[in-house]
Amino acid sequence: MGRLPFIAGNWKMNKTVGEALDLARQMKTSLAKVDSVEVAVAPPFTALFAVGNELKGSRIVLAAQNLFWEEKGAFTGEISPAMLKEIGCGYVIIGHSERRQYFGETDETVNRRIKAAFKHGLKVIFCIGETLQEREEGKTFSVVERQMEGGLKGLKTEEARPMVLAYEPVWAIGTGKTATPEQAEEVHRFIRNKLGGLYSREIAGEIRIQYGGSVTPENIKGLMTQEDIDGALVGGASLQAETFSKIVRFREI
Ligand code: 13P
Repeated sequence: MGRLPFIAGNWKMNKTVGEALDLARQMKTSLAKVDSVEVAVAPPFTALFAVGNELKGSRIVLAAQNLFWEEKGAFTGEISPAMLKEIGCGYVIIGHSERRQYFGETDETVNRRIKAAFKHGLKVIFCIGETLQEREEGKTFSVVERQMEGGLKGLKTEEARPMVLAYEPVWAIGTGKTATPEQAEEVHRFIRNKLGGLYSREIAGEIRIQYGGSVTPENIKGLMTQEDIDGALVGGASLQAETFSKIVRFREI
């Protein structure tokens, strides 16, 4: 059975509540007729509740950009999995390279977050990808492999099944320098084979792998024609309803 394409918008640290609601309303309208593509948006924490309410009755799924692994307690500034679940989040992005780069995220903390998400029934969009220097040094596969082994450590097959991976080469994020479809496919294939080794060929065939990094309406189609690219995690181009819906409707381009 084919994998359902999955396009998600990561709004990062953009949009006040008012702006987020405007964008959500526009997306609801422009994506009302879209089926056979799963769509999610990840607004900043402050706008999650409001956007979640706005999206009720639509097919757009709510996603968070991070979580903390503890249930509750003295963790100033953090958000628990139960808090996200309560307001209707279906997905949570874990291990984004910006969190690894600027906020000290490691494979170990990624692993703790992934386990906490599964425990609370939140599906994970698990981000991995190499820096420019790592690519130039020929370390792309070893970096991705290390991130997968670390992030998924101790995760059982049944926990891994609903997961989504996002391959986001750091050099392609926000730079306008997207990976070519062939460059991306090469790593996606590697990731799927690795999933096969960690779990089973069956699970590896089911898990969706998104590409992220300067995805636009212009380059989405080429990416989506690749065998192992099952969708996209979109940053900048998800901040406008028109460009995001063009990406979601990639089949019509
Ligand atoms: P851009 O689409 O802005 O390059 O961001 C990609 C990304 O980091 C999505 O998580």
